[in-house]
Amino acid sequence: MMKKINPVDQFNRPLRDLRISVTDRCNFRCTYCMPAEIFGERYEFLPKEKLLSFEEIYRIAKVSVQIGVKKIRITGGEPLVRQDIPDLIEMLAGIDEIDDIAMTTNAYLLEKFAQDLKDAGLNRITVSLDSLDDDVFQKMNGRGFDTSKVKNGILEAKKVGLSPIKINVVVQKNVNDHTILELIEWCRENNLIPRFIEYMDVGNLNQWDLSEVIFSKQLIDQINDVFPAEPIESAYRGEVAKKYRFLDGKGQFGVISSVSQPFCGDCTRLRLSPEGEIFTCLFGQKGLDLRSSLRSGVSDEDLIHIIQNTWKARDDNYSEQRSSLSNKNLKKVEMYHIGG
Ligand code: GTP
Ligand code: 5AD
Ligand code: SF4
Ligand code: SF4
Repeated sequence: MMKKINPVDQFNRPLRDLRISVTDRCNFRCTYCMPAEIFGERYEFLPKEKLLSFEEIYRIAKVSVQIGVKKIRITGGEPLVRQDIPDLIEMLAGIDEIDDIAMTTNAYLLEKFAQDLKDAGLNRITVSLDSLDDDVFQKMNGRGFDTSKVKNGILEAKKVGLSPIKINVVVQKNVNDHTILELIEWCRENNLIPRFIEYMDVGNLNQWDLSEVIFSKQLIDQINDVFPAEPIESAYRGEVAKKYRFLDGKGQFGVISSVSQPFCGDCTRLRLSPEGEIFTCLFGQKGLDLRSSLRSGVSDEDLIHIIQNTWKARDDNYSEQRSSLSNKNLKKVEMYHIGG
């Protein structure tokens, strides 16, 4: 076994999480992520030969562990549209040093997959679900799907023991903000943890505007009026969500305030794109291609060096500089490509 190293980046942040996007495809067309006008019938997604194979993903995960990774998140696009995804989970679950394997999914196909994912070794899931109001949800997912399959998927995941289950809600002003209390109620009944995310300027396609963001502070006040709550401590350094517990003892919620209170200072996340590029920030402009190295026979040692050097050089803190960077028209990677 190779000796473990713990590189830190330019701001002294260690590497802990690897977020793996397994596909750029999705069965939804959320307006803020893959607007249907752009991602129509003729949109060309990555062809199969450009995607990393499961063996290639496994190899990157396996060497990343040598330089600090302990936690893996599988994301997309929608990870459940990638064929045989439980097989990948099973391979990753075989890496001893990984403490936690989670998946971010829209849950549309989850009812069918939940048991296989659990059996393969997935620990938990986070479901992107912006509203339980069918009209609102149908508009936001861009495909006219109602919430029934998503709810069934979540309940099945609960049944097979994928836990805890978190529900990610991107809050957009005048779009879904009026449906938040209904969602909280359902989460409280079903022991799920809702997390309200400030709408962010990820990528260049969603025409983001600050006026559409609802700041967490306002949201917390609104929730508190109906469901009194108090803050709780973070579970670990760098936890993205700020958490609150309901005073009646029935559950908790979180807010993710990347716009109003950036958390770059503790950001320990490395992202792998479906075609094998690594990004050191969600707002990255260019990734580093590992696929060519993998396909030209790079040794584990060299692969470690490449990733480690990328991490050491890292000086990203986009969210902290948002206001000065966002008017520079930077060409940023898209969320559907790199995952949340
Ligand atoms: P766990 O604590 O492991 O459950 O996950 P998490 O809190 O990291 O949450 P998750 O991966 O579900 O991320 C939730 C949302 O937070 C994402 O969809 C993004 O909108 C936002 N987010 C996550 N990581 C980052 C990040 O590094 N930078 C920014 N700006 N936003 C992030
Ligand atoms: N701002 C905040 N969160 C976003 N997500 C996608 N696009 C955005 C955005 N612009 C979230 C989705 C999902 C995860 C993949 O990223 O809700 O939970
Ligand atoms: Fe698909 Fe998630 Fe993007 Fe919606 S936010 S289009 S579910 S990848
Ligand atoms: Fe990390 Fe970039 Fe997000 Fe800051 S903006 S928390 S550096 S991914």
